[in-house]
Amino acid sequence: MAKDNLLIIGSTGWIGTYITDQILKSKDLFGRIAIFTSLGTAETKAQLFEGFKEQGVEVIVGDILKLGDLERAFEGIDVVISAVGRNIIAEQISWIPLLTRSPNIKRFFPSEYGTDIEYGPSSVHEKPHQQKLKVRAALAKSEGFEYTYVVTGPFAYGFLARMEKLPEIGSFDVAKKKATVLGDGRGQVSLTTEPDVGKLVVKALQHPEATKNRALKVNSFTTTPLEIVAEFEKQTGGEKWSVDYVPLEKLRELEEKAWETGNGTGFTLRRIWAEGGTLYEKRDNGLIDGEETDSLEDAVRVAIAKQTGHEKL
Ligand SMILES: NC(=O)c1ccc[n+]([C@@H]2O[C@H](COP(=O)([O-])OP(=O)(O)OC[C@H]3O[C@@H](n4cnc5c(N)ncnc54)[C@H](OP(=O)(O)O)[C@@H]3O)[C@@H](O)[C@H]2O)c1
Repeated sequence: MAKDNLLIIGSTGWIGTYITDQILKSKDLFGRIAIFTSLGTAETKAQLFEGFKEQGVEVIVGDILKLGDLERAFEGIDVVISAVGRNIIAEQISWIPLLTRSPNIKRFFPSEYGTDIEYGPSSVHEKPHQQKLKVRAALAKSEGFEYTYVVTGPFAYGFLARMEKLPEIGSFDVAKKKATVLGDGRGQVSLTTEPDVGKLVVKALQHPEATKNRALKVNSFTTTPLEIVAEFEKQTGGEKWSVDYVPLEKLRELEEKAWETGNGTGFTLRRIWAEGGTLYEKRDNGLIDGEETDSLEDAVRVAIAKQTGHEKL
């Protein structure tokens, strides 16, 4: 059977980097691997693109807001994987007619990689979900290709970071041995490490039937903020960390204020995660042979390396 030709859009963004890295690690599974990027990014990240080209990646430079540029990039492509940033999530709706009329395209992965935006009855009202919900509504009516929503919950390295300027949304500070946790710190949360997001996308690509026209709810592990603190303590010499608690009512107040004065996305997502919005009866890793994932121990090791400068953030 012919191998699928892939196009990645948003390949140098935060999560796009990890997705691209894992696709390249498995490149023998695929045919052509192409990347669509803007001229600005092609210039500022020229070295990165040179590295991609050395690995046989086709770099297509264009304007993501010009449908003609995208349509040219879609030529000969079987699967489009988008990891575009939040600002342009809704733009993906305008790609649907192109995806439909592209003769080869059979699967689209829109930019998701987050909280389940259809988790429960209140999800439909959550402000940060609105653009992705519109994309899903448009895709549900689309024809001529299939789609997969890769739902990963919070990224582990992001969740375990030190939030110097805003510890109230949850923070783990290795240098100060100090954590700020939401609620009583015992609420469960399911996290996916950034490399696992990439690996699980590759697994989803390998399992087209199991991932057809659905949200694929995957994660690396489920834990609690206090278990995370305990793991940090273990990996930083065994000494107790100091822990501050932010009651959920306080978080909701901060969230409201943030929306009044600007964009409260970060607060809303943290509140949803703290309320248990990443927990499912059953995760879907088993559907795609994706049970082998990073552990809390692995994620904390990387989080420490990032904060102590032993690995780039
Ligand atoms: N679960 C979590 O904890 C979590 C955290 C963060 C993000 N996410 C989700 O992951 C997805 C990708 O987010 P991200 O933070 O990785 O994205 P990002 O770093 O902000 O950007 C991704 C890429 O989108 C492309 N892009 C082109 N024009 C753009 C524009 N006008 N505005 C924004 N991006 C533009 C760029 O591609 P080029 O580099 O090729 O120019 C950019 O590198 C989103 O759906 C987001 O909601 C989830």
